[in-house]
Amino acid sequence: MKRSTNFWAVVPAAGVGERMNADRPKQYLDLAGKTVIEHTLSRLLQANVFSGVAVAISAEDPYWPELSFAQHELIITAPGGKERADSVLSALKAIRAKAKDDDWILVHDAARPCLTTEDIHLLIDTLVNDDVGGILALSSHDTLKSVQDQDILGTLDRRSVWRALTPQMFRYGLLKTALEGGAEGNPAVTDEASALELMGLKPKIVEGRPDNIKITRPEDLALARFFMEQQ
Ligand code: CTP
Ligand code: MG
Repeated sequence: MKRSTNFWAVVPAAGVGERMNADRPKQYLDLAGKTVIEHTLSRLLQANVFSGVAVAISAEDPYWPELSFAQHELIITAPGGKERADSVLSALKAIRAKAKDDDWILVHDAARPCLTTEDIHLLIDTLVNDDVGGILALSSHDTLKSVQDQDILGTLDRRSVWRALTPQMFRYGLLKTALEGGAEGNPAVTDEASALELMGLKPKIVEGRPDNIKITRPEDLALARFFMEQQ
């Protein structure tokens, strides 16, 4: 049966990659012969579920127009914003004429190039009938400490703490309302789920693969390469 709602990918790619400390934003660094963002977009398109992919690109970005993806028929670009949430909102606005309020949006970091088709389908299949939506996440294997100024205040219940990954999957209308409502200039909103949490909603977690890492620091590139070889 044909699904009544469409799926769209939103890719925030307007960060500067400060922690990476490289000569260009991390999404344009080489990873096994392609840029990080080319891997990311290829993997989203390979899943074969998206009606379009909206990518938020910084206004001063000289690297994006050089990529063949800039001409891809399913890719729509939008201007990046000051914070990640602003970039996501800008990308949502760029597909406003095409996306319906109850279409599903999967927001995925440009800096996570190891995403698998398996995880995309797991997220969609788990949440497609959910009222709110949710995110890929990882459980914690280590014992977790709550710390202030290097002093341990206590040990957290490991079962109640998860690491938020992307994609994060929410309905177009709800996500846009959440981001417009409380996200702008709010440093606590570092992912889409937190914008919905501020509305009192309870997004779900879906356990994802540990190789879906975010390139954040220089050593992560070698790790991503290793994971890609293993996949
Ligand atoms: N991002 C964005 N717009 C911003 C900030 C971040 O689109 N104003 C994107 C990044 O390009 C990245 C994703 O959000 O794909 C996750 O953010 P992060 O890993 O923090 O990337 P950067 O902000 O680029 O890195 P840093 O925080 O080290 O500067
Ligand atoms: Mg950042």
